Amino acid sequence: MPPPLTIRSRAHDYTVEFHPDLGAALAAVVGGERAVWLVDRRLAALQAPALAAVVPESRLLMVEASEAAKSFEALTPVFLGLLERGLKRDGQLVVVGGGVLQDIGCFVASVLFRGLRWTLVPTTLLAQADSCIGSKSSINIGPYKNQLGTFYPPHRVLLTSTVLATLPPDEIRSGMGEIIKLQLLAGEAGYRELMADLDQFHGELPILEKWVGRSLAVKQPYIETDEFDRGVRNLLNYGHTFGHAYESATHYGIPHGIGVTLGMLTATFLSVRLGLVPATHYTELKAQLAPWHHPFGATLRKAELAQVFEAIRHDKKNTGTSVNCILTRGPGRMERRPVDFERELVPAVTEFIAHELAP
Ligand SMILES: NC(=O)c1ccc[n+]([C@@H]2O[C@H](COP(=O)([O-])OP(=O)(O)OC[C@H]3O[C@@H](n4cnc5c(N)ncnc54)[C@H](O)[C@@H]3O)[C@@H](O)[C@H]2O)c1
Repeated sequence: MPPPLTIRSRAHDYTVEFHPDLGAALAAVVGGERAVWLVDRRLAALQAPALAAVVPESRLLMVEASEAAKSFEALTPVFLGLLERGLKRDGQLVVVGGGVLQDIGCFVASVLFRGLRWTLVPTTLLAQADSCIGSKSSINIGPYKNQLGTFYPPHRVLLTSTVLATLPPDEIRSGMGEIIKLQLLAGEAGYRELMADLDQFHGELPILEKWVGRSLAVKQPYIETDEFDRGVRNLLNYGHTFGHAYESATHYGIPHGIGVTLGMLTATFLSVRLGLVPATHYTELKAQLAPWHHPFGATLRKAELAQVFEAIRHDKKNTGTSVNCILTRGPGRMERRPVDFERELVPAVTEFIAHELAP
């Protein structure tokens, strides 16, 4: 198992600990008698015995993991449900689930009683390898995704790779999108090692655990240096401007991390067009990443281009006629740059979707 981490945060430092199984992770919650548990409904069904051993039914609130559930409008029953189950200022919230449950739990913990102790047990590959550290909550309002949020890290993150055994293949590939992104940010050596492991990968949990640990180690310095995302942390958005647009234009028909994979390819294709990186880098990436986004290229090809561009325009990172994109000069060499929307971005994205995703 990877060694534990201590993450520094302006709110409070917190630990990331690895456990042999879900039972051990849940049992490691300290002060559990004053806790109320917010659990992903699907996960709760899959892990009923492990949960029942630790979590009293009267203190359990289950939530569906969906984009609708992490909307501002859907939060009232969550707040009420937690209060009705006896959550108090000196208690704690324990959140068990993927990125959706994390976003809900983090938001709730940051505002309930003006800040409540909370523990996160992430159960998807994406949440384990990426979102569980970094303090962010993102909540949808009306048609606007992730527009509300707070920075409020959990006090502890309890991880176990065994819980990933029940994850559907698309969710594994979604998490892998963020893992690939972090290794591309880290540089050539990490990326090559990851690709070598993925060539042999058939769902082995030790491989996943290794890359969860390695991914968190890459992300840690970005979020510690720039927790509030004003500078270097922006680079973690490599692939996200396009990925978010692809998710939204397909009405969330593309899982988040797979959108990121398609978005990284788009950003790299655009980087070649702008003369930042040789075409050979893009060609290699295109071949290596194909199994990790298949068959969602076809989903993207069916999207309305106008909706893709509308979503990019409304991305929160835009200014004037330009869109701030994270572009690449190769592994370990990402940079933030304004890209002219009409002249540079639209032609490149149009060509990428029309010709680069053909079966
Ligand atoms: N706050 C952040 O820093 C941050 C970062 C990245 C993504 N996100 C958000 O996270 C969300 C995506 O999260 P996600 O990819 O973890 O997906 P998710 O939370 O939507 O879960 C995906 C599916 O897997 C199920 N599931 C969860 N754990 C399981 C398990 N162990 N076995 C079987 N099924 C399981 C869920 O019920 C759901 O159906 C998006 O809303 C995205 O915006 C937040």
